[in-house]
Amino acid sequence: MNSFENLIAESVAATGVFRAEEVLALLSIPQETTHGNFSLPCFALAKTLRKAPKVIAEELAAKLKLPAGISKAEPVNGYLNFFIDREFLARSVLSEIAEDKLSFGHAALKQKNVVIDYSSPNIGKELAFHHLRSTMIGNSLARIYKASGYNVIRINHLGDWGTAFGKLIVMYLRENRATDEKTLDSLTVKELNILYAAFSKAAALEPNLEEEARAAFTKLESGDAFYRKLWEAFRAATLKELMRIYKMMGVEFDHYTGESFFENQIPAVLEELKEKNLLVKSQERDVVMLDEFDLPPCLIRKSDGSTLYATRDLAAALYRKREYDFARCLYVVDLGQSLHFKQVFHVLQKMGYEWYQDMVHIPFGVILQKNEEGKWEKGKTRTGNSNLLRDVIEAASEKILAYINEKNPNLENKAEVATQIGISALTFNDLKNRRLMDVKFDWDSALSFDGATGPYVQNAHVRLCSIMRKADYESKAEDVSWEHLADDYAYELVKILARKGDRILQACEAEEPSILAQYALEIAEAAHRFIHHDRVLGSPEEKSRLFLVQGTQLVLENVLDLLGLFPIRAM
Ligand code: ARG
Repeated sequence: MNSFENLIAESVAATGVFRAEEVLALLSIPQETTHGNFSLPCFALAKTLRKAPKVIAEELAAKLKLPAGISKAEPVNGYLNFFIDREFLARSVLSEIAEDKLSFGHAALKQKNVVIDYSSPNIGKELAFHHLRSTMIGNSLARIYKASGYNVIRINHLGDWGTAFGKLIVMYLRENRATDEKTLDSLTVKELNILYAAFSKAAALEPNLEEEARAAFTKLESGDAFYRKLWEAFRAATLKELMRIYKMMGVEFDHYTGESFFENQIPAVLEELKEKNLLVKSQERDVVMLDEFDLPPCLIRKSDGSTLYATRDLAAALYRKREYDFARCLYVVDLGQSLHFKQVFHVLQKMGYEWYQDMVHIPFGVILQKNEEGKWEKGKTRTGNSNLLRDVIEAASEKILAYINEKNPNLENKAEVATQIGISALTFNDLKNRRLMDVKFDWDSALSFDGATGPYVQNAHVRLCSIMRKADYESKAEDVSWEHLADDYAYELVKILARKGDRILQACEAEEPSILAQYALEIAEAAHRFIHHDRVLGSPEEKSRLFLVQGTQLVLENVLDLLGLFPIRAM
């Protein structure tokens, strides 16, 4: 609605009483609809003009030439209230949507790169339920940035290097497993999980096993071909399952440049740190001191010469800047890693890179579930005692499928639809509140078709699609009688649709998908109300109302997509 504010500012400025910038700064949106759409308080001028605000507002109203789209300017107690012409608003908003379709409200291209590092799980393990957060917040931010005109580079910084691989190698060889190509090719991540657990169990009894694992990793790091072959098999097995889940969730990446990718870039980083006199020996380890930031030293290299998570993140940051010359580089990683990112960013600062300021950690809270006593805690899901993401998705899909079987057993592709609704429900539950808040996960409320849920917003979209299907023709702006879209329900809905561009902008600036999740709820509620009160099919206003249905469907479809929810068309 920016343009309305500008129009009002211009017309008020033309009276010579206020300057346009003053009007823009003072204009507010009144709580009460009876006070119009915008309100200009005239109190600030009372002193200079030596007049009562009430008089100023009245004089302004008399002098003002109403701009197009504003039907009335009414002075009330020192305020000048502006009323938008409902028909004008409906025509301008809905015609623009019909023109721009899904990209209505998107920003112009900016020629700027934004790197987003999200999901980034560790190899050798399956995705856990908590991985949903980084994956879906990052996925949504990538889409929001793109709609805001940025060129987005989506990176999965896989944890595919480090002592964990020493552990897997030690255990694999200990169990005398076959190492021929065929066996390695058919390795699954499930087996790796078991191997991992076996290592922990054995290491509890034999403390020197940890040492063996470290030595194995150092051997891997130094380029041993056989160890490298095992590592590649472990990585491939995990990646296969990862890709299956991402595909199911509709999540994509441009690059899977994980930690191992930076292995050969580490010597250059160490060299640079040395050259810049930043590397200090501490208990035989190499560190960068960060006292001046009140932070503990950043560990760069262990006493046995092996490198660390932070070292690889430094190499990755330098690589990303070189390769993508980013305007911003986001790390969607849980709050628990904030010290790590502070350290990495400050080391870059000490290296003299001004762009350290463009590196941003995007933290988020944890997922809480109810325990037996009904208290919220970090822990296992109630249904099935697994906390693997695939199991949670499966359980959600099954519950939705049972619901569909009850309500609409003849639905086409119902298993697929159920999975999409299930995943969207989990996603919406994760995105609906500000990301720093902990997420309370409870099966019944996350999967419900009522309330602030994924199924609720998807259902609104389904209803819109169903009306369009039944109408079986497309309404055009020329077919519309705009006075048919001026009643309260249509007007409320149009006003909400008009805000799409603003909401995307706000979500991008705050890096907060929840702003769009709340917006999706607003659209869904207003759409349900409109459909309920203003009959579309078979009414005298059918063509006009159908035009609003079409516009709402496009806006909602795109907002669902920006959130990473599936815009289902039938359920
Ligand atoms: N693999 C890490 C973990 O699971 C997250 C990596 C986040 N990205 C990064 N560039 N450090 O904790």
